[in-house]
Amino acid sequence: MRHFVIVGVLVIIVFLATYFGLTALKLMPVEASAQSIVVDWMWNLDFVVMCFLFALIIVPLVYGLIVFRRKKGDTSDGEYIEGNTKLEITWTVIPLITVLVFAYLGAYSLGETMAVDPNALEISVTARQWSWQFDYPEGFTSNELHLPVNRQVVLNMTSLDVIHAFWVPQFRIRQDILPGRVTNYRITPILIGNYTVMCSQLCGTSHSYMTAPVIVTSQADYDAWVQSQVTAAQAAAAAGGPANGKLLVSKYGCLGCHSTDGSKLVGPTWQGLYQSQVKLSDGRTVTADQAYLVESIVSPSAKVVNGFPDNVMPKTFGTVLTQSQINDIVSYIETLK
Ligand code: CUA
Repeated sequence: MRHFVIVGVLVIIVFLATYFGLTALKLMPVEASAQSIVVDWMWNLDFVVMCFLFALIIVPLVYGLIVFRRKKGDTSDGEYIEGNTKLEITWTVIPLITVLVFAYLGAYSLGETMAVDPNALEISVTARQWSWQFDYPEGFTSNELHLPVNRQVVLNMTSLDVIHAFWVPQFRIRQDILPGRVTNYRITPILIGNYTVMCSQLCGTSHSYMTAPVIVTSQADYDAWVQSQVTAAQAAAAAGGPANGKLLVSKYGCLGCHSTDGSKLVGPTWQGLYQSQVKLSDGRTVTADQAYLVESIVSPSAKVVNGFPDNVMPKTFGTVLTQSQINDIVSYIETLK
């Protein structure tokens, strides 16, 4: 009996120390969505049970190892125990009830996080190796996700190539994005701030670079941003040239692999590229003139830059983009001195 009391007290101490010790580390990011509160509530309940089970298993194990260690010179057999019906019923019924309660709470929480608001803002998300594209209901495209605070948004997401996943840690909810299918992601941002969406499905060489800004603002700031984007898109399309090229490289995800500030990503930077001498993987050196830039967009494998992998850039831009769009992009790259 003495052993039971000691172990019981130790279980409670280890349980409390584990739970409060780990909770004090504050490993979770802030709760930035209405859904994150439900998820964290559920997670916390799970965590209490996990910490208790940890203590319940580890403490008797370690206690038994130390206190009931075989005495020196004792070679007798251990005690033969036939079974204990009461104990077996207890350790079957209690976990059964616990699991059923958690099944109910889990289903309830899942329903809460998926609750539909008929006035939700709809934004289309296109994922590709390795960039994000957001298409807004007003008809413009951005590689930043701007969201008004306290309004539910539903993201209709699809992929152009492999499986990706939309994950903003502060929103908690995560959703896979599949080619040839549209998956939905509902979220209600509740905290103004700047976050980052990351791809959480290993999707190739630059998976870890597949991020985009998520900016939660007031409704007024959101409206102003939308208006500025609409105006900019109209003006750029009308004018053509470098301004339109800049919008296009953002829209088509080029900036996921090519920097404009000299930093090395998956592909060569565009800064200072125009008219520079480029060393190719086959040992030749060519001048990055207009024809070279056009060719590198349309047939990226024709001249592979030394030190960069082949067959990474999509070979579809020759058909996806019109000739005048390609010219606008090239004219934009030419401005990056
Ligand atoms: Cu897309 Cu990882």
